[in-house]
Amino acid sequence: MKSYKIAVIAGDGIGPEVIAEGVRVLEHVAKLDGGFQFEFTNFPWGCEYYLKNGKMMPDNAIDTLKEYDAIYLGAVGYPGVPDHISLWDLLLKIRHEFDEYVNVRPVKLLNGAPCPLKNISCKDIDMIVIRENSEGEYAGAGDWLYRGQENEVVLQTGVFSRKGTERIIRYAFELARKERKTLTSISKGNALNYSMVFWDSVFAEVAKEYPDVKTASYLVDAASMFFVKDPARFQVVVTSNLFGDILTDLGAAITGGMGLAAGANLNPEKKFPSMFEPIHGSAPDIAGKQIANPLASIWSASQMLDFFGYENWGARLIDAIEVLMVEGKTLTCDLGGTAKTGEVGDAIIKLLTGGNG
Ligand code: NAD
Ligand code: IPM
Ligand code: MN
Repeated sequence: MKSYKIAVIAGDGIGPEVIAEGVRVLEHVAKLDGGFQFEFTNFPWGCEYYLKNGKMMPDNAIDTLKEYDAIYLGAVGYPGVPDHISLWDLLLKIRHEFDEYVNVRPVKLLNGAPCPLKNISCKDIDMIVIRENSEGEYAGAGDWLYRGQENEVVLQTGVFSRKGTERIIRYAFELARKERKTLTSISKGNALNYSMVFWDSVFAEVAKEYPDVKTASYLVDAASMFFVKDPARFQVVVTSNLFGDILTDLGAAITGGMGLAAGANLNPEKKFPSMFEPIHGSAPDIAGKQIANPLASIWSASQMLDFFGYENWGARLIDAIEVLMVEGKTLTCDLGGTAKTGEVGDAIIKLLTGGNG
């Protein structure tokens, strides 16, 4: 039987609470299918590990993770450890070391999900945001000069390589072509006169190879406005690392909140493991109470199933999430319910088996 080795890094705060439900759901899917199985290995890395060991992960973590078919990550970051350390030494390190240069984030209004916008139906918000995930504003290049002095200077350099820019734009064009959707590039060439002028020129250049794909190009400020005022104009979206980060939290806000937003960090060549995660953080404000919504992590489990080629199961998970929300009986408080995290997991498992949520 086909077996998939999954490295589980549940992480901090609500990370372990929501990942536990995703793991249960994946195990249940494998059992129902009968044709494949998962072998999960838990790695207790994160901020608690840092406080004990002075590092977020052991020195050989990347070598260890390399042996896995995928990584399933909860969330990282907790008060007591500076965020730039916890994130750069774990999440961003994995994205970079494993060249997970594509971040696929669905911004899709599911049936039954609350939408704060007026006169919007599910068909009006159905996007896939392709976020550049390996460089750009997140290259980690810069300097901090004359610390604490009057002439202190800090540099944070954006890095947009030809290879990095072209491959993400090409990935988005391929996806738009396959799905017969429009492709919108979001950038900021009016102010960022090197990086984003370059981005726009690469987009225009690659577009020539895809005459069948209808394109649009927006400045990020206007695009943010249209995400709220007229989200229906976006289908596939491609954007830089930082803009993609911000726009997908905005995307979460219009499609039911952080408890429902998932992301896949892909190394499309499969040279390294890809990583699947809810896009929310460790939510220290609600951690430890068993009230976090596990649907984002379950949605990212659905992305993992898609990635392994089980699109039918990926779709069944999304269907189960929709039925659960339409029924409205077993929802966490962010979605207006009173259910505990584990009860939502139970309800999804029941729906997959064929019962009611
Ligand atoms: P956050 O996403 O943790 O929380 C923002 C708000 O959304 C909070 O009010 C929280 O309660 C709510 N929320 C988030 N996920 C939820 C869920 N599943 N169910 C219900 N409500 C949910 O963002 P933040 O507060 O800015 O960051 C907290 C920590 O997480 C920081 O250390 C930050 O650096 C880190 N972070 C990590 C990741 C990651 O590991 N992928 C992502 C974002 C932030
Ligand atoms: C995300 C997160 C990360 C990012 C942080 C925690 C570094 O916000 O995955 O959206 O900015 O990429
Ligand atoms: Mn983010």
